[in-house]
Amino acid sequence: MQNSFDQPIDRKGSGCFKYDALKLIYGREDLLPLWVADMDFAVSDEISSALAERLQHPVFGYNLRLDSFYEALQHWQQKRFNWEIIRDWVIATPGIVPAIALCLLCFTEPGDKVLIQTPVYTPFHTTVTDHNRQLLCSALYNDNGVYCIDWEDFERKISLAKLFILCSPHNPVGRVWSKEELIKMGELCRKHKVIVFSDEIHEDLIYPGFHHIPFASLEDFAQFSITGVSPAKSFNVAGLATAVAIVPNSELRDKLNAINNRMALYMGNSFGITAFVAAYSQSENMLNQLLQYLAGSRDYIRQFMQDKLPEVILSPIEGTYLAWLDFRAWQLDDNSLQDIMVNKARLALEPGIKYGIEGSGFMRLNFGCPRSTLEEALQRIKDLHR
Ligand SMILES: Cc1ncc(COP(=O)(O)O)c(C=O)c1O
Repeated sequence: MQNSFDQPIDRKGSGCFKYDALKLIYGREDLLPLWVADMDFAVSDEISSALAERLQHPVFGYNLRLDSFYEALQHWQQKRFNWEIIRDWVIATPGIVPAIALCLLCFTEPGDKVLIQTPVYTPFHTTVTDHNRQLLCSALYNDNGVYCIDWEDFERKISLAKLFILCSPHNPVGRVWSKEELIKMGELCRKHKVIVFSDEIHEDLIYPGFHHIPFASLEDFAQFSITGVSPAKSFNVAGLATAVAIVPNSELRDKLNAINNRMALYMGNSFGITAFVAAYSQSENMLNQLLQYLAGSRDYIRQFMQDKLPEVILSPIEGTYLAWLDFRAWQLDDNSLQDIMVNKARLALEPGIKYGIEGSGFMRLNFGCPRSTLEEALQRIKDLHR
């Protein structure tokens, strides 16, 4: 029997960024889109049914998050990550990036320094600079595709920072930080009195042999950290714009709540709330099946690269559905690399340079798609370099 993840879904014309913005971003529409980080898979039946049921009620007024919202999150965090969270710690936001922006407004002043670990998700850069804060980049050390923290650089820079935005697991390099790494980062943040925003949006997308550990579940790190989570990636509901910031420290929480209220961002939308509950309380089976499928795709990419494109270095994918590919052996500048991907291979990938200067010569490939799409995309890359 065919796995439903193999079934292509025509998303064109649904108003989705990944397909409908191709012309806008890449200048042409005839591309296989493996860029924006959402998946081409249907949501779980449980999420669909919950949304359909909500639709049966004809009134869509202002929302109150019922007990089920908090209980679903608490149960999920406890079961999957052994992290016990208290309901009062939870602040609802429309997304993780908005939560980062709120933290910047709340815990830093214009001109303050904010540390990120590059290459990293583009809004980590832009949210900081858009708010007139200074970006401090600690480049991850790249050893033939394997990324780790340059501790000397990290400590030097963290000592200057007011806020550290941690990407855990890391987009785009695919690292799932180990307990030792998290503890070392946390201890340095504690020592230098730096507040941490731990973006854990990819927390559920972890491959066998690796374990995601919530930063705030370690030592006393809950006291100086804010954790951002949502079902957006794991359950493919990013368009429903419903996330939470988990803030155990009451002083930090009061400040964040105040600004969230001041901007009236807490209300949420009826469908986002419904999907959030159905994802965390009913969709674990679907997630487990998805993880198996993605693990198969990851293995496929690894084998393909090894056999057919050995000069392109694939970073080990410990988590996320994102492959980080080093094309520097092709000796092309970033514009030329992008040009051949788009205009010869007809592929929309994310240019690595978007994630920081360390991403120059790299591409990020989103494999949250049917295997047939992935196979076609890799073959097109291979065909570029016959
Ligand atoms: C690390 C990371 N954080 C945040 C987001 C987006 O979060 P949101 O849509 O909730 O703002 C993404 C999406 O790709 C991401 O990869």
